[in-house]
Amino acid sequence: MSQDVETIVDVKEIGTTAGRKELPPALTRRDFESEFGLVGRSPAMLQVYETIEQVAPTDISVLITGESGTGKELVAKAIHGLSRRRHKPLVTVNCGAIPEGIIESELFGHEKGAFTGAVSVRKGYFEAADGGTIFLDEIGDMPLGTQVKVLRVLEGHEFMRVGGTELRRVDVRVIAATNRDLWQRVQEGEFREDLYYRLNAVNIRMPALREHPEDIPLLVRKFTRDFCSANKIEFEGFTDGAIRLMQEYPWPGNVRELKNLVEKVIVLERGKRVDEFRLAKYLQLPRLEERSLPVHLNRPKDEVEREFIYRALLDLKSEIAQLRELLLQRVAPVPSLGPWRPGSSAPEVIDVTPHANGSAVEADVTLQEMEKRLIERTLERYGGNKRRAAKALGISERTLYRKIKEYNLPF
Ligand SMILES: Nc1ncnc2c1ncn2[C@@H]1O[C@H](COP(=O)(O)OP(=O)(O)OP(=O)(O)O)[C@@H](O)[C@H]1O
Ligand SMILES: [Mg+2]
Repeated sequence: MSQDVETIVDVKEIGTTAGRKELPPALTRRDFESEFGLVGRSPAMLQVYETIEQVAPTDISVLITGESGTGKELVAKAIHGLSRRRHKPLVTVNCGAIPEGIIESELFGHEKGAFTGAVSVRKGYFEAADGGTIFLDEIGDMPLGTQVKVLRVLEGHEFMRVGGTELRRVDVRVIAATNRDLWQRVQEGEFREDLYYRLNAVNIRMPALREHPEDIPLLVRKFTRDFCSANKIEFEGFTDGAIRLMQEYPWPGNVRELKNLVEKVIVLERGKRVDEFRLAKYLQLPRLEERSLPVHLNRPKDEVEREFIYRALLDLKSEIAQLRELLLQRVAPVPSLGPWRPGSSAPEVIDVTPHANGSAVEADVTLQEMEKRLIERTLERYGGNKRRAAKALGISERTLYRKIKEYNLPF
């Protein structure tokens, strides 16, 4: 029971102990979490807050970059929310979601009769955002023809509705975001260089979640609380081990993926305490294994061992003949390896099943020796690179480390 109390990271505890202990004091007195839902106190996030505070009071254009799910939209909202424009609209336009044919009439509006279906005058997003902020999300997907018109608005605040003749003026601040490499789009001729520089007056680069894993306890606390209170769910919490595992995971989908995972796990585990073993089921294990993360294979030890031996033998058949020679020279008495006898040609697959006739002990000794040699030679072959050696052996890197220790190998 006391063990439980110690290990369980209660919803209330996450962030107050595990999370905050290692984090520096906040540089800003502003509470970005309660004001804008932005969680994180890592140096990388503090840098983001600092830039937000610097740029918000001005009308300077801001380009927010970063992988998908890193919080670019939240940052755009925070900039608007801290600007003098906060009482005016923040109009968000997903440039990637609007069909190319209508994007200009969506952005700049159209006059009656401008095209088939334009039965009435329609204001565009720029006009709707007058006095406020327009957030051009996924700007990298904006067609080239539209880019030039956006540049014109940025430079002269002027534009024309589709089918119109009158120049219109708006007072709009532009924030743009992209998860693509916009400079590469410029190189490819898909994005105008002049617009790139114009938008990129200030760049806020959102860190990938794997770059600030120290914020994970705080994020988990927030997502847990929000989800449980919205759905009236009682949740026993994540253990320290589960939080640690989350901190090791690379999160290709960043904070969005973490949020989805937390909610999914709470529901599917029916509010029960979640430790690293339970959690591992929901993570992409191959990815984890590649990175040598402390994931416990959820299988009986002997099954894993058996598979290890078979796979190692099958994968490295060509090594077996040499090994046999080695064993013959160095191990006495000559081991019994199933159907193989000294002098006969190499069998395709060696029978490693211990035999009832008393060869089990010998086979066991031999297999251990073989295993050791296989590991040693494979490590040598890959220059000591454990990840590649483990892959070639068909075992997890974690198992490889254990074997190296067990056999006292100099790697
Ligand atoms: N620092 C953060 N604190 C709290 N929630 C966050 C944070 N970053 C992201 N989120 C949450 O993660 C989800 C994705 O965030 P957001 O939509 O801002 O990402 P994005 O960078 O715009 O992604 P995309 O490029 O896919 O549009 C949202 O639910 C958001 O609330
Ligand atoms: Mg977004």
